[in-house]
Amino acid sequence: MSIAETASPSLAEADRFRATLRNHPAGVVVITASVEGRPVGLTATSFTSVSLAPPLVSFYIAESSTTWPALRRAGEFGVQLLTEEQSDLADRFSRRGEDRFAAPTAWSRGPSQVPLLDGASAHLVCSRFDTRLIGDHWLVVGEVTRTLVLDDPRPPLVYHRGAFGGVSALR
Ligand SMILES: Cc1cc2nc3c(=O)[nH]c(=O)nc-3n(C[C@H](O)[C@H](O)[C@H](O)COP(=O)(O)O)c2cc1C
Repeated sequence: MSIAETASPSLAEADRFRATLRNHPAGVVVITASVEGRPVGLTATSFTSVSLAPPLVSFYIAESSTTWPALRRAGEFGVQLLTEEQSDLADRFSRRGEDRFAAPTAWSRGPSQVPLLDGASAHLVCSRFDTRLIGDHWLVVGEVTRTLVLDDPRPPLVYHRGAFGGVSALR
């Protein structure tokens, strides 16, 4: 059996896996941290709540991420829940070779110097609770130490089938 023949079924499987998951809509967040005074961050849809007592949240980050070597050294991180008006920000924080915190990104330092992005509907400040490698991603679990919520936030930004969108109430 040639290499191509052995490789193609698993490649097709990977494509099918990706194609299937494209149908799962997910809210978009930006994870941020301050590492030796330098802000770092990336766009993620793998964010989820985990536990109420203690209050835990989590996200997964690819082992291959160039942000991970810095982020893994941060004891605290921030989660910005993006609104439907922030797709540009989501794009910027997913592109390599870009100063993600340079203008037009508007941000400030919050509790524990964690960078907070202006305009997010809510920010969670977390201290790292657990980190483990699962497959080719690191699972990062954080304990929420502070929450900051906008009074009247815009609807959330959602990623679905490779595109950004919003949500509308059924009634
Ligand atoms: C909508 C969207 C969701 C993403 N979700 C994740 C995620 O949950 N985990 C992850 O590791 N990368 C995710 N990415 C990719 C990272 O944002 C991107 O690969 C990364 O920022 C590339 O730069 P890096 O080398 O700094 O990680 C997502 C990208 C987009 C556009």
